[in-house]
Amino acid sequence: EKTIAVLTSGGDAPGMNAAIRAVVRTGIVKGFRVLGFMRGYNGLINGDYMEMNLRSVSDIIHRGGTMLYTARSPEFKTEEGIQKAIETCKENNIQGVVVVGGDGSFRGARDLSQRGINCIGIPGTIDNDIACSEYTIGFDTAVNTCMQAVDRIRDTAQSHDRCSVVEVMGNNTGHLALHSGIGCGATCILVPEVPYDLKKDVVGRILSYQGTGKKHFIIVVAEGTCNTNALAIQIQALTNIETRETVLGYIQRGGSPNAKDRVVASQMGFRAVELLAQNIGNRVIAMKDGKILDYDITEALGMQKPFEMDLYNMAHDISI
Ligand code: F6P
Repeated sequence: EKTIAVLTSGGDAPGMNAAIRAVVRTGIVKGFRVLGFMRGYNGLINGDYMEMNLRSVSDIIHRGGTMLYTARSPEFKTEEGIQKAIETCKENNIQGVVVVGGDGSFRGARDLSQRGINCIGIPGTIDNDIACSEYTIGFDTAVNTCMQAVDRIRDTAQSHDRCSVVEVMGNNTGHLALHSGIGCGATCILVPEVPYDLKKDVVGRILSYQGTGKKHFIIVVAEGTCNTNALAIQIQALTNIETRETVLGYIQRGGSPNAKDRVVASQMGFRAVELLAQNIGNRVIAMKDGKILDYDITEALGMQKPFEMDLYNMAHDISI
């Protein structure tokens, strides 16, 4: 029986379940047997899977996290691990694997594809840091989660005339910080892509806005930028404004996916199975100008994602 597999790998992201659902339903409609492998590549290595049917993905489109669980698999980075995964694929007559995850997961998909198992990557991460795709599943939900969290923090900062330093995720990129920072009207957005001068770009800005009557300040910092605790202490010392630090943490990863993430996950899951049905592998699904397309994995991994400098500059121009 023609069989395909689906798994989620790396950090969970809202919308992964919607992608699994689309893969399973499309696969079954196209006549495949579909297996859901548990805990990322570990499931492939250990032969840990569940047989999927149309109803096994009922009632998950609105849930965060991933019903197939996820993991980062060090064993899959070894030749031995890859060989075990290939064994599992052969035993179960698996012709294709759909992997929902980030760059690390796509490297695994490339390694498997090079050894004869067609793999398709789907970008799923709240970081939006996959170079070949302008969008990754989970980003919009996470931006909204961060924004809503900072809205609450703002109430307190406003009530106490304080400065609030809020650290958001993003790994070593600032896309999540940029979009959530604009959404919550941050005074400063600090990201790893743009060097900054503490005295001029942060303290100077706070003090000059204070001169216009502004009394509370929100500084959104991407986690890869600096030590936010130290930053908060420095801001307080240099401005004399009471400053508090909040690390949003895993609150950003969970939660019900919003409409955009459900729609994009459905489109990408559908496209992934269309490719496998045509016996095509070693591709990553991506979004370009709002359209769904696909790239060779090696080519995709070699791409660089530009930081949205225009948006960043605009944010600072209007945060006055
Ligand atoms: O890739 C998603 C992400 O949440 C990053 O923003 C963050 O740096 C990382 O995962 C945290 O990973 P872990 O779940 O291993 O703590």
